[in-house]
Amino acid sequence: MSKLPPVLANLPLPIIGSPLFIISNPKLVIAQCKAGVVGSMPALNARPASQLEDWLAEITEELAAYNKANPDKPAAPFAINQIVHKSNDRLAHDMELVVKYKVPIVITSLGARTDVNDAVHSYGGVTMHDVINNSFAQKAIEKGADGLIAVAAGAGGHAGIKSPFALVQEIRQWFDGPLALSGSIANGAAVLAAQAMGADFAYIGTAFIATEEARASAEYKQAIVDGTSDDIVYSNLFTGVHGNYLAPSIVAAGMDPANLPEGDLKTMNFGGGESAKKAWKDIWGSGQGIGAVTEVGSAASFIEKLKREYMDARRRLAL
Ligand SMILES: Cc1cc2nc3c(=O)[nH]c(=O)nc-3n(C[C@H](O)[C@H](O)[C@H](O)COP(=O)(O)O)c2cc1C
Repeated sequence: MSKLPPVLANLPLPIIGSPLFIISNPKLVIAQCKAGVVGSMPALNARPASQLEDWLAEITEELAAYNKANPDKPAAPFAINQIVHKSNDRLAHDMELVVKYKVPIVITSLGARTDVNDAVHSYGGVTMHDVINNSFAQKAIEKGADGLIAVAAGAGGHAGIKSPFALVQEIRQWFDGPLALSGSIANGAAVLAAQAMGADFAYIGTAFIATEEARASAEYKQAIVDGTSDDIVYSNLFTGVHGNYLAPSIVAAGMDPANLPEGDLKTMNFGGGESAKKAWKDIWGSGQGIGAVTEVGSAASFIEKLKREYMDARRRLAL
């Protein structure tokens, strides 16, 4: 286990609920944090940009009130995700609010930037950058990130192709800071497995889509419940970068999942317009771990299940 900054030390559960484009919202983040898991959302989910301040105020106030009422069982801290891609024309605006609200953890993806890390460090916040290979991991730390998120094969959204075993062991050869592992983690035993491999946290995304709080359609949630890893297609067609998607949504959009053309990196767009939103609304992102998701329930009940499974796995291994 590595040395962790105070905000990440002694979490009730070694789990971060990962940011989900369009889907995560304050309701989900607050439910995750209250249940003991770091909750997160992309800043870009607040639309228009001015809504971000309302959302940050809501999360901050609600968690402060909860902590006051539950001093023995405080909520986990929350995180905001900044998509640091050149097409994100809101980054400066959204970073100003992150600093104003002293967001405890900032998750950066699709680009590592020193100025973003410096802004978060200016108020004592912690940054974690997501990477799909060891060389991106080294660059992220050189640019000042405090921690890393290893996005291994089978993760939902923009995923890598590395085995989690390869990725974690290479990163751990030189990095002893906070490390989260993602990719198909959807039950408590897998959380323990991530720790056994050398990660500090399991980073779970797709399984939270099938929660009542998530801002996804009932059909999307049900597809996560019904699907298995056989239904997941890895393609760069939809955003220009390779990601994992549910085949039934590709069929519903009139395409053959087995014969998708190559995408174009130049088409990636996280600007204020609607095009990125549309790509993710009709084509459903999902990791390979969905076989473990058997019902749509509250985030709290899913986290309770993760905790039970995690403790059972520890007992099984007599830890
Ligand atoms: C629908 C969907 C949307 C996502 N949106 C984002 C995002 O906006 N920013 C980000 O950093 N990661 C995003 N991700 C990736 C997740 O944060 C995380 O890496 C991944 O979900 C972990 O793998 P898992 O889904 O198998 O648990 C998204 C994933 C999914 C499934």
